[in-house]
Amino acid sequence: MKKTSLDRILQSQGFGSRKGCRELIEEGEVSVGGEVVTNWRTEFDPEGLTFTVFDEEWEFREHVYLVLNKPAGYECSRKPSSHPGVLSLFPENFEWRDVQTVGRLDHDTTGLLLLSDDGAFIHAQSSPKRHQPKTYVATTAEPVSDKLVAALLAGVKLHDEPAPLAALACRKLDDNRIEIVLDQGKYHQVKRMLAAAGNHCAALTRSAIGPVQLADLNLEEGEWRYLTTEELALLGWE
Ligand code: URA
Repeated sequence: MKKTSLDRILQSQGFGSRKGCRELIEEGEVSVGGEVVTNWRTEFDPEGLTFTVFDEEWEFREHVYLVLNKPAGYECSRKPSSHPGVLSLFPENFEWRDVQTVGRLDHDTTGLLLLSDDGAFIHAQSSPKRHQPKTYVATTAEPVSDKLVAALLAGVKLHDEPAPLAALACRKLDDNRIEIVLDQGKYHQVKRMLAAAGNHCAALTRSAIGPVQLADLNLEEGEWRYLTTEELALLGWE
C-alpha cells in the first residue's frame, strides 16, 4: 500500500479526528515497532502495520469484519433509545470507524450478529437477493406441536404482508424449542410468525447465518472477534 503519514493511518483506524490523532502522537502515546513516534508526519506502509496506542496493540485493517455473540438487553440501532447499543461492547474506535450491524436483532434476541465498516459487505450480506439463510432457535411459551411446524413450513399470514411467509426449514428441538430457518428478515419475523401460528416466542437466539454456526465460534455471550478469512469465504466474501 502507499506510504501514509501516521496521523492519517490512526484516523483511518478510528482513533479520532486528524487533530486528535496528531495530539496522541505528539503526546507519545503511539509506538510503531516498539519505538515511540512523536512526529505525525512520519510515513509507514499501512499494509501489515502493527502499532500500539496507549500500550494496546493494533493491526492496521482496511476494513473490519466482526462477529458478536449478542447478549440480551442491547439494541442494534445506531441511536439506541432504551438499552445500550451493541457497539458499546466493542472498543471505542470501532464506532469512529463507522462500524454497523448487518441487519438487526431485537434487543431481547441473542446470538450471532455480524458487523463491519465495509458498506459493500453490509449491503451484500443484508441484500434480500442474496437469500442468506438465517437460523433461529425459539423457546416457545406453548409446547411445539407438529401442527405448529407444519404451519410455519406452509406459510403464515402476517398483518402487513401481502403474501404468507414460510420458513425454509423448521424442526422441533424439544417440547418448548423450535429451530426455524428464514431467508428473509422482516421486522420481528420469527416472533410474529410464531404468534400467527398460535404460539408465543418467549426467547430467541440466532444460531447460524448461512453455514456459519454460532456453536463453532467459541464466543461467550457478549464476546466478539474478527471473522477469519475462512468464515468470510463461507459467507461468500473473498
Ligand atoms: N425475528 C425476530 O422476531 N426477532 C429477531 O431479533 C430476529 C428475527
